Amino acid sequence: MTQTTLRQHLHASNTDRDLLMLLEDIATACRMIADRVRHGAFAGVLGAAETENVQGETQKELDVISDEIFQEIVGGNPNLAALVSEEVDEVNWRKQAPQAGDFVVYYDPLDGSSNLDVNLSVGTIFSIVRLKEAVPTEASAVQIKGTEQIAAGYAIYGPSTGLVVTVGQGVVGFTHHPGSGEFLLTQPAMSIPEQTQEFAINASRYDLWEAPVRRYIDDCLRGANGRRGKKFNMRWCASMVADVHRILTRGGVFLYPKDSGNAGQGGKLRLMYEANPMGMLVEQAGGAASTGTGRIMDVAPTGHHQRVSVILGSRDEVAEIERYYTE
Ligand code: AHG
Ligand code: MN
Ligand code: MN
Repeated sequence: MTQTTLRQHLHASNTDRDLLMLLEDIATACRMIADRVRHGAFAGVLGAAETENVQGETQKELDVISDEIFQEIVGGNPNLAALVSEEVDEVNWRKQAPQAGDFVVYYDPLDGSSNLDVNLSVGTIFSIVRLKEAVPTEASAVQIKGTEQIAAGYAIYGPSTGLVVTVGQGVVGFTHHPGSGEFLLTQPAMSIPEQTQEFAINASRYDLWEAPVRRYIDDCLRGANGRRGKKFNMRWCASMVADVHRILTRGGVFLYPKDSGNAGQGGKLRLMYEANPMGMLVEQAGGAASTGTGRIMDVAPTGHHQRVSVILGSRDEVAEIERYYTE
């Protein structure tokens, strides 16, 4: 049996050389982050910021360590105009005079980090756009719509380390092979079933939800005897990477809607490095990604840390939830 590496797969699918190189740099950063995550308590990096390790040294939070790794590895890419990280307020410009064709990478270095203390899956999410023209090094220059993404993906640090990528030709999954250090192709065509009987939402926010979300979840919980006429299962990982990975594997729907607790900020999840990349992956796998009232990737960004309402997964189910919003 032959094995396909990430590089071989990208080359075989005619990925532009510069993009291939950038994706390889991102994969390297993710392997290094995986290594740090894997060391867990031994590295003294669990828990809140500025904890002490066994030697009594002050440790940085793993979110920050992951961000530094990403900056060091991906920041060295010669075609990179800027990095936009969840952990850094300002845009990290890597070029004085960004040109047409240069890349901007938006990323969440460690997603689901509240799960670290309990040893559950976390991940790294990334979104890539290419500048259409030379731009000034101002924050407004990286407020680029999700429809402009040329690639997106995530690494998942679970029982195994996985890398899931789209370059706009479907969604492919790789698994880290510890012996060789390579990501090897394991899921050549990830696709989301159109229908589902499984939802993911933080139900502790029930009292904060808008009426359409409340009605939708109530109807799911009524099961076979309710409006939906079928029984639903529920999952919530509190790690978007893990929830989306499950949906890309077996279908389902994920909701982190705008509610009265987060409405002031427009929602909880971030548009540029959570909702857009996951939206592109889900659409590329045959699913849908909506705010409840429109396509996520059509949202015109007004800031690079902007938040948004997120409903994504199996296509028919997302359409059904959109109907609840119009009723
Ligand atoms: P992050 O760890 O990058 O801040 O993101 C956490 C996000 C997302 O991964 C997850 O779906 C959601 O926050 C969990 O929120 P709750 O704690 O409200 O469940
Ligand atoms: Mn996150
Ligand atoms: Mn994060």
